[in-house]
Amino acid sequence: MLLSSVEQKRLQLSKSTAATKKSLLGQFFTPENTAAFMAGLFQDGTGICRLLDAGAGIGSLSAAFLERWRTGGFHFSRVELDAFEMDGALVGHLAQTLDAYDQRNDFVGNIYDEDFVLAAVESLSGSFWAKPLNSYTHAILNPPYKKINSNSAHRLALRRVGIETVNLYSVQRVS
Ligand SMILES: C[S@@+](CC[C@H](N)C(=O)[O-])C[C@H]1O[C@@H](n2cnc3c(N)ncnc32)[C@H](O)[C@@H]1O
Repeated sequence: MLLSSVEQKRLQLSKSTAATKKSLLGQFFTPENTAAFMAGLFQDGTGICRLLDAGAGIGSLSAAFLERWRTGGFHFSRVELDAFEMDGALVGHLAQTLDAYDQRNDFVGNIYDEDFVLAAVESLSGSFWAKPLNSYTHAILNPPYKKINSNSAHRLALRRVGIETVNLYSVQRVS
């Protein structure tokens, strides 16, 4: 079977990334078949799709979504994707993944090389200087399976906006 370039990259990175980094950032990327299955779970829609990928990695889940769209499985007139990935080393791979869907004027992929939790907290804080997050019609959430320590920067930041939780999964669900 011919593997897509995203799948080849995933296999290559899963061999070459140090175990400590994988575990620290939860860098376990979704295999192509699973990503296609997950993209198939979204309901079809029309109009503009504003899609969030809150921890995009190399873009496997976004690519599956966009592939479904490009092959007629979604009927959006346009897709605007905000992809957050805090590991700068992955951003070039992510950009390559998204570039493959950029040949027409109906797709915009914005990459944010930053921490999604901190960006969301800033946006929710109501501070005058806060950079507001966009609102989204669809969200891809596959954060690290990690506890948030009681005195960590994430825990303290979340407390500022009234969110008290112990793992990243529940953070993404409420923020
Ligand atoms: C479990 S992987 C999922 C990657 C991709 N969505 C997939 O399914 O293949 C989680 C990704 O989120 C990134 N990440 C972890 N914490 C993050 C945060 N607070 N903000 C943005 N990205 C984060 C990691 O570097 C990693 O690439």
